[in-house]
Amino acid sequence: MPTVTIMPSGKTVDAAEGATLLQIIMSSGEEINHKCEGKAQCGSCHIYVHEGRKGISKIAREENERLDTIVGIGSKSRLACQAKILGTENVKVELLGFASGL
Ligand code: FES
Repeated sequence: MPTVTIMPSGKTVDAAEGATLLQIIMSSGEEINHKCEGKAQCGSCHIYVHEGRKGISKIAREENERLDTIVGIGSKSRLACQAKILGTENVKVELLGFASGL
């Protein structure tokens, strides 16, 4: 089973295939915003994926359109609620405090 390491705390948790990064981060006890409850509408679950990008699902049109509206996105940006674990690689993500005001 792959793992997800959550920065900045460095906590590492098991990641079930098919689970979203949002579900995994929440079940780990870390704080992450998710104002639209995972519908790719709010952008508050924006995170960076630093490692293992091949181990998560690709960005779909809905997610891409939402990311385009967020200040501070980069090539590592994902919406945690849309990125699903594929079960092939360990993943390292970074929670972004500046997104908390969204
Ligand atoms: S929870 Fe709203 S976009 Fe992810």
